[in-house]
Amino acid sequence: MGLNLPFIILLCVALLLGGCESPQNAAKVEYSSPGPVPAEPQRPGDPEKGYRALLNEPYLGCGMPYSAYQRIGGTGAPRIPDRVGRNAELPYFLTAHRTLKGVEVVSVNCLACHGGLFDGKLIIGLGNENLDFTEDRSITAESAGAYVDTEAEAAEWRRWANRVRATAPYEITDTVGANPAINATLALIAHRDPNTMAWSPQPLMEPPPKQVAPVSVPPWWRLAKKNALYYNAEGRGDLARAMMLGAIYCAEDVATLREIDAYAPDIRAYFASITPPRWPFGINRELAEQGRAVFEATCSGCHGTYGERQSYPNLVIGAAEVGTDPALAQNAADGSTDRFILWFNRSFFGEIARAAPAPGYIAPPLDGIWVTAPYLHNGSVPNLAVLLDSAKRPQYWTRSYGSAAADYDSDTLGWRYTELPYGKAGAKDPKERKKIYDTRLPGYSNAGHTYGDRLSETERKAILEYLKTL
Ligand code: HEC
Ligand code: HEC
Repeated sequence: MGLNLPFIILLCVALLLGGCESPQNAAKVEYSSPGPVPAEPQRPGDPEKGYRALLNEPYLGCGMPYSAYQRIGGTGAPRIPDRVGRNAELPYFLTAHRTLKGVEVVSVNCLACHGGLFDGKLIIGLGNENLDFTEDRSITAESAGAYVDTEAEAAEWRRWANRVRATAPYEITDTVGANPAINATLALIAHRDPNTMAWSPQPLMEPPPKQVAPVSVPPWWRLAKKNALYYNAEGRGDLARAMMLGAIYCAEDVATLREIDAYAPDIRAYFASITPPRWPFGINRELAEQGRAVFEATCSGCHGTYGERQSYPNLVIGAAEVGTDPALAQNAADGSTDRFILWFNRSFFGEIARAAPAPGYIAPPLDGIWVTAPYLHNGSVPNLAVLLDSAKRPQYWTRSYGSAAADYDSDTLGWRYTELPYGKAGAKDPKERKKIYDTRLPGYSNAGHTYGDRLSETERKAILEYLKTL
């Protein structure tokens, strides 16, 4: 279907006259292929400045007026004492700032999902696998309105509550621990003009489906090695620009995004500098050394090598090949999310970053893997022992969602869980139902990644010991 030259000229003239509306429709989404993800140049940043910016800057911009927050009452969650001003008093996942209209507001920050606890200690960058998104968050946001005093406060509360209302229906999951961040971001995109970032109360494109594909939150320290962001390696180009997409929650124009983007490279540099927590229990060094040999023969081709001869191949494996739940990879690469990808690539973000999903999953670096349970992109596998032995993976299971050392099983490397004889359909009450991980539901499968199955029991034990050392 060759286009001839006169036709192309005509088309260009028509586009010029028509205000160049059409390239958007003509633009095609470029997916990535499975295989190695090449490194791309990154803007340099200062990790120390990035740490401070992450903890103090108001990149998620709007929130509940501080006075209302005070009346509703705080939580016992850990504080980070080296934060500045009001932030030092607030739980680690909240950030206070004064808006242009002079109202002090409290908003959630990135640590709400990317700060996790182990034995009472906050680990920055560890995904929080215990968050409960099973209820409609707009109900709490609306009720906070009862606690605002002044007109200026009411206006700030309304702006925030409206944002919550627009996204809340798209971030309801049916299982505690399943994270809806991707879907929430797509819902925000649907309301923003890609050129001006102006918010439209009515969606400007079809919002995402309300059914949320479950996702476990990956640890930030992987950015020391990964050349692309996200499980399907969708975030390409300048990763600092790509990873601040969440700022469209409340940034009402491109100028605000540029301010945030000015410190984003520092935050990325900070992420790349985080060292994962060390295994806090004993290690059998001899067994771990045997495990290293098995690991290097069986797993390193995809996950790389660790220690002195460190390497990491940045490999995306096709969803069918790895055999894990295909929904997340398919959703992005089957055309059904093209409108969001086009929006991203045309917007401020697309200037130096790209959204280019692959129909598969990246084999992640395994540094600090012991602390990141449950496993696989959908959190469907409770511990590393059963990750290595697929026949033993539970079909229906539940856990306490605790984070004390006593909740952790140092033999199997994961949070303690109970296998159930029934799935969600067999649960007696909603409180029990939402805590059941049901691998028979779409998106929740625990199949695939059977690379440990062909090893002997002794070899698996050895690999498990080795994984404690990473
Ligand atoms: C509502 C929960 C939530 C919040 C808040 C959140 N994230 Fe995430 N983040 C996620 C989830 C879930 C993923 C995994 C998505 C995927 O890979 O498909 C993720 C992935 C990432 C990754 C990629 C990690 C990797 O290995 O590919 C980076 C970097 C990141 N987030 C940075 C941030 C920053 C910076 C903020 C604050 C501006 C933030 N996130 C706020 C849930 C959240
Ligand atoms: C052919 C490539 C390949 C081989 C070989 C391989 N893996 Fe993986 N691994 C992957 C991919 C791809 C994923 C991500 C799958 C997903 O999330 O759906 C993964 C995920 C994992 C995870 C879960 C990471 C997380 O954050 O949840 C662990 C742990 C892991 N692999 C360990 C191993 C071990 C140990 C071996 C050797 C016995 C091994 N893998 C062999 C490709 C591979």
